Amino acid sequence: RRPIIIDCDPGVDDAIAILLALRAPEFDLRALTPVAGNVPLDRTAPNALSILELAGARVPVYRGAEKPMFCELHTAAEIHGADGLHGFTLPEPKTAYAEGHAWDAIYREARALGGELEIIAVGPLTNLGIAFSKYPDLPRYLKKITIMGGAVAYGNTTSAAEFNIYADPEAAEMVFRAGVPIAMCGLDVTHQSCLLPEEIDEIAALPSPQARYAAKLLGYTLSWKDRYHSIGAVLHDPCALIYALDPSMFESKRCWIGVETKGPVTRGKTVTDCYSDAKKEPNADLVTGVDRARFAAKVRELLAAY
Ligand code: BDR
Ligand code: CA
Repeated sequence: RRPIIIDCDPGVDDAIAILLALRAPEFDLRALTPVAGNVPLDRTAPNALSILELAGARVPVYRGAEKPMFCELHTAAEIHGADGLHGFTLPEPKTAYAEGHAWDAIYREARALGGELEIIAVGPLTNLGIAFSKYPDLPRYLKKITIMGGAVAYGNTTSAAEFNIYADPEAAEMVFRAGVPIAMCGLDVTHQSCLLPEEIDEIAALPSPQARYAAKLLGYTLSWKDRYHSIGAVLHDPCALIYALDPSMFESKRCWIGVETKGPVTRGKTVTDCYSDAKKEPNADLVTGVDRARFAAKVRELLAAY
């Protein structure tokens, strides 16, 4: 089984991604490393514990950063609700956090696994930025980082920038520069990775409490549909999770990706080089398309496994 850590800020769609990961037999979920993002860390961290309790899973949760590396915290509570789960609040967790910081746990696991660890990063990239700053040899121990973040076209937080990258551009810039194989699932593909209302109804009819809970969150994400001009419930973070699981249902291209950190209009934008005169050396797989029906079927299959 492939060892993974999900670096996350749950978060409605983070919660769905975590539930999916726990039923993928290919994955060995070694830890969750919540970070401040959609809501402050004092909500994302307990949400991570509560989601694991809902799933009946024993996975260590290492608390991550309370704020971005160099800028102020910018949340998305207006989208995810003050509790981060749009009011579908889970019981307060009974389990305790694992000892130590997220960045130390990532490094320790990466070394112990001898280069096999993959990170699926679905929140602001602060924990990884800190990890790379503190442990310069970390890149050689990471197999891959799959990122939900960025956009080639339109931003969702600013006109230019997607939320996870905008929330900590300096950390994101370090991650894209680190030399680790990267796949970026930006808004261009996450908006295609959606479930139709009737597909959500099917999940709501599944018998387990976990699937029914996921269906409630999915029902809420359906309300993002018109804003994004999408045909269904847009699933940003599950898109990255499913891409990491099975890239064969996606289209991608090799290219260089960097992060703009300075521009007054473009701070937090992911900049891609495909055919410019600069001919920048590719550092990432840019995920551009998805077979939506296969994606939806996989989401359903994993939730039906509860
Ligand atoms: C990303 O931002 C967050 O609000 C979501 O959880 C997702 O990770 C989408 O821009
Ligand atoms: Ca997220």
